[in-house]
Amino acid sequence: MTIDRSVKIAPSILAADFANFGAEIDAVEAQGADWIHVDVMDGHFVPNISFGPTTCAAIRPHIKTVMDVHLMIAPVDPYIEEFANAGADFITAHVEAGPHIHRTLQAIRGAGAKAGVALNPGTPASAVAHLLNVADLVCVMTVNPGFGGQSFIPLESKVAELRAMIGDRPIHLEIDGGVTPATAPGLVQAGADVLVAGSAVFKGGSVSDPAPYGDNIRAIRASYS
Ligand code: DX5
Ligand code: ZN
Repeated sequence: MTIDRSVKIAPSILAADFANFGAEIDAVEAQGADWIHVDVMDGHFVPNISFGPTTCAAIRPHIKTVMDVHLMIAPVDPYIEEFANAGADFITAHVEAGPHIHRTLQAIRGAGAKAGVALNPGTPASAVAHLLNVADLVCVMTVNPGFGGQSFIPLESKVAELRAMIGDRPIHLEIDGGVTPATAPGLVQAGADVLVAGSAVFKGGSVSDPAPYGDNIRAIRASYS
């Protein structure tokens, strides 16, 4: 099996207008987003609360590209079915979220979604070495999860290490946190193929003035092209 390894930009709706998710998704896709990144936070695994599966189901009809759900919750397993039923294409769980991440990834696939595993900045690449046969995506956090708009933590060597570990396997390598035109080139160089970007995409625009979203997406693409 082969996968599309071209670089995809995945705007995080954490930086969108929470009263307007449907229109924000329509706008950012029209402006060139490749995937839509959906950040779920529980106020327990991370110190912030965003939204849950009901919101995911409500926004699903607006997503014509790929719905990439990032679960910053613990426990994960009791909620997998609900997020899969909400229409998530990818469901990503944190390796730090519980003792049985292998089972969690199997359960995500069993529920019909693609399985992602995320690593906090302090977690070494080796933490996923024995998970690569049950993963469709590895997400490297380049901020401590919980909030948008934080400063980038330079972890390009970890990204390169993971790229080498992944080899020919059909696994996406995603970066989440602090992606901008300044940080994207080194990440793409290190082997990333999905760049999540919240503030760098949504800054300066709105649903009534979405052109800046397109400018921002093109600025990120131009930085590594
Ligand atoms: C952080 C979230 C990220 C965040 C990225 O916990 O997982 O997806 O929204 O935001 P920026 O791009 O602003 O760092
Ligand atoms: Zn995220």
